[in-house]
Amino acid sequence: MKTPDTRPSSGTTSPAKTKRRDFMKSAAVGAGLLILPSGTFAAPNAPSNKLNIALIGADGRARAHYDALKSENVVALCDVDEEHLAFAGNVFPDAKHYVDWRECLQQKDLDAIVCCTTDQTHAFVANWALNRDLHVYCEKPLAISVEEARLVRDTYRKKKDKLATQVGMQRHAKENFNRIREMIIDGAIGDLQEVSVWGNRQLPRPGYLPAAGAPPKNLHYDLWLGPAPFHPYNPGYFERPAGMNCLSWNMYWDFGVGQVGDMGSHTMDIAWNAIDAGIPTSITGVGEEYNPDVTPVRMTSTFEPPANAWRDAITVKWFQGGDMPKSPVKYVDLNQIGHGVMFRGTNGYLIGDFDTRMLYPHGTKTDMIYYKPRAEKDLLPPVGHFQKQWLDACKGGDLNTACNFEYSANMIEQMILGLVAYRHGGKIEYDGKTGRITNNEAANKLLSRPYRDGWTLEG
Ligand SMILES: NC(=O)c1ccc[n+]([C@@H]2O[C@H](COP(=O)([O-])OP(=O)(O)OC[C@H]3O[C@@H](n4cnc5c(N)ncnc54)[C@H](O)[C@@H]3O)[C@@H](O)[C@H]2O)c1
Repeated sequence: MKTPDTRPSSGTTSPAKTKRRDFMKSAAVGAGLLILPSGTFAAPNAPSNKLNIALIGADGRARAHYDALKSENVVALCDVDEEHLAFAGNVFPDAKHYVDWRECLQQKDLDAIVCCTTDQTHAFVANWALNRDLHVYCEKPLAISVEEARLVRDTYRKKKDKLATQVGMQRHAKENFNRIREMIIDGAIGDLQEVSVWGNRQLPRPGYLPAAGAPPKNLHYDLWLGPAPFHPYNPGYFERPAGMNCLSWNMYWDFGVGQVGDMGSHTMDIAWNAIDAGIPTSITGVGEEYNPDVTPVRMTSTFEPPANAWRDAITVKWFQGGDMPKSPVKYVDLNQIGHGVMFRGTNGYLIGDFDTRMLYPHGTKTDMIYYKPRAEKDLLPPVGHFQKQWLDACKGGDLNTACNFEYSANMIEQMILGLVAYRHGGKIEYDGKTGRITNNEAANKLLSRPYRDGWTLEG
């Protein structure tokens, strides 16, 4: 951690402060949202106005969506496990059943899909659904390679005036996200310089699991593997309870991106929401020894996103699996925060997690007179019910949902670039416009991943 910059910025005209002030005057500063007057859109959610939805990946995490989906017409269920399909069928008895999502997406009466499958299929399902003009809610992470994130975002950009998207980073609806954004933009810690984000989850594995007999009859294992290179069946990939089973497979390179896409999706979101960052121009990643089977438990990646309308260039860091930023003061033990963020500005630190935050004024301007908390009327509007925000958007509400595929693809592209730099073993320079690593041609192969024959992202 660098020593805090103690240059006084309060009441003076630092360039960043002027930028922030001008930005506040000239632009809407919602939590990634453009604030529009109420009544701009047709009233969503008339009782007759139900969506025809396919739930793909029908059990596990999908259970968390059942209540919201009960207000709609769930007309299709898809799951590679027929027992899971039967379970969901009891909740949504009118739905047709599928084991292959490619067939499910052919059903003609669909308006929208909710995707809760394994991570290695997310970008596939999302992109195929967008190609069919379907609204998409996709569980996090949206993608597990840079190529996938960019492709889904490109498709979304072509359709964003008619389709609603949301990535399952539902903690984004917590009020603390808005409060942190307001404090950063309003200058509670002066001019923003660095953001550290961390997660302490550790799920070490030695390698892919060994072959362990035939899959049970109810499980279509080949479809479970989907686009991923073949690995033999082992019940260890299916050993955790519903909603937690992703922790049985998401650390393997062919199935996920480990904590980068898991808790990283949620925790980086606290920062991403507050910093309006684009794709970083340079990235480093350091951690434990590279294992070709398993993503790293311990790793730190560092990103350099460019300046934007309201701040200068900053540094963003992601720490996982035991790596941690250094606390600015001995009596604040960051290790007590399992998944947290720390913003460093010219006048102090803001430390927080999903629900709480604390301010640590520091440097020469600790009087705080430079900072005026917002009036209640100026607080950012709450997101409300996260899934419902998307459902309302599908029905003609504001298409600019909190975690749409622009916001979320950018964030996961950044996070995966950290893994790319870690695998490359050195700093990478990156051109976000072309999606190319510019300082090492060979490293570009790490931006995509291998698929089995017959699987294509563009379906
Ligand atoms: N937003 C959150 O807080 C949160 C919490 C937990 C999980 N998740 C995400 O939800 C997803 C699912 O996680 P999980 O723990 O439920 O995993 P899981 O292994 O239990 O899979 C979920 C369901 O999808 C089915 N499935 C798997 N591959 C499929 C495919 N190709 N086609 C159709 N069905 C398929 C499984 O049989 C299961 O019923 C993961 O991407 C995970 O990251 C998000």
